[in-house]
Amino acid sequence: MNKRIFLSPPHMGGNELSYIQEAFESNYIAPLGHNVDTFEAQIKSYTGAKYALALTSGTAAIHLALRVLGIKEGDEVMASTFTFIGSIAPILYERCTPFFIDSDTASWNLDPNLLEEELSHRASTRKKQPKALILTHLYGQCADVKRIATICEHYGVHLIEDAAESLGATYEGKQSGTFGKMGIYSFNGNKIITTSGGGMLVSDDEALISHARHLSTQARDNAPHYEHTEYGYNYRMSNIVAGIGRGQMEVLPERIERRREIFEYYRKAFSEVPEISFMPELKGSLGNRWLTTLILPEHLSPERIRLSLEEQNIESRPLWKPMHAQPLFHGTKGRLNGVSDMLFQRGICLPSGSSLSTDELEKITFHLKAVMAHN
Ligand SMILES: Cc1ncc(COP(=O)(O)O)c(C=O)c1O
Repeated sequence: MNKRIFLSPPHMGGNELSYIQEAFESNYIAPLGHNVDTFEAQIKSYTGAKYALALTSGTAAIHLALRVLGIKEGDEVMASTFTFIGSIAPILYERCTPFFIDSDTASWNLDPNLLEEELSHRASTRKKQPKALILTHLYGQCADVKRIATICEHYGVHLIEDAAESLGATYEGKQSGTFGKMGIYSFNGNKIITTSGGGMLVSDDEALISHARHLSTQARDNAPHYEHTEYGYNYRMSNIVAGIGRGQMEVLPERIERRREIFEYYRKAFSEVPEISFMPELKGSLGNRWLTTLILPEHLSPERIRLSLEEQNIESRPLWKPMHAQPLFHGTKGRLNGVSDMLFQRGICLPSGSSLSTDELEKITFHLKAVMAHN
């Protein structure tokens, strides 16, 4: 069998093991230590966020954001419908009610017009506004985040940016994840940089991050016998895992450059097929192109293409199934326009790992073109 080509495998930089070794030498085999502090400092310096908190996952980071923003049982939280479940599950952990907003075709991300329509309709009919909006920058491409942040501010809605997939993506030079009240990144095994599993919560608000830090370590009050006035979680990142993050941060700019090159390779390779459209990049923004994603011509079934690539041991994936279409959210309200349904029906993600060789890219495009020609 051919060597498998994965969608987005881990790509180590080279220094990760030495930082893990350091942790062993210092015996900080614990959810604190020099690697954790350094990884947080690197994220702050890279993104420009004033405060950062390293956690066990991106999902944990979103959960803590909801907790520290005071979102409580019964509150309503708006969110992008075109996202991964990790964005939304924390809304359910807190027994809050999600309300989904669809995408636009300009960004494939949350449609600011739909958001504004919904919030202004509520304002004019004196309906309750949501407490927060969880905005996803999908596949590493920025949503229209500046406008969305302005809308949220106008209506008093906390903006939480789910930048799990978009570390390093910028909008007018500012990093995704730093426009809202809080932002999160994920370092899951398939992300642009990985720590095997992990996440980061960022904010410019010191009190919010300090409260999140408290909650992430079982909410232990300052007493030798462990006193608790509220409940927390065991969400802090391990010093071993953070060693991987430290090494990965050193190569992040190279990883973004390579992912963008891979995107350009596919774009050029399929430039003669006018019915194909790639995920756009909003004017003023620069995505990290975590995954190259595209909409196929109407007559081609993404599942047929996926199975044909699978026969060559090439991994591809449908676009995320929107949350409003998930059985879990049957009956959940939202403001929808059909865009994310169309993207799910017609879209596909291609292998995009930064370690892909040119030979592998040639092989993928060769097979993809062959399947397209025969379907
Ligand atoms: C858009 C999005 N949100 C949230 C998450 C959750 O991150 P994690 O897997 O680190 O919990 C992920 C990735 O897994 C994601 O892709």
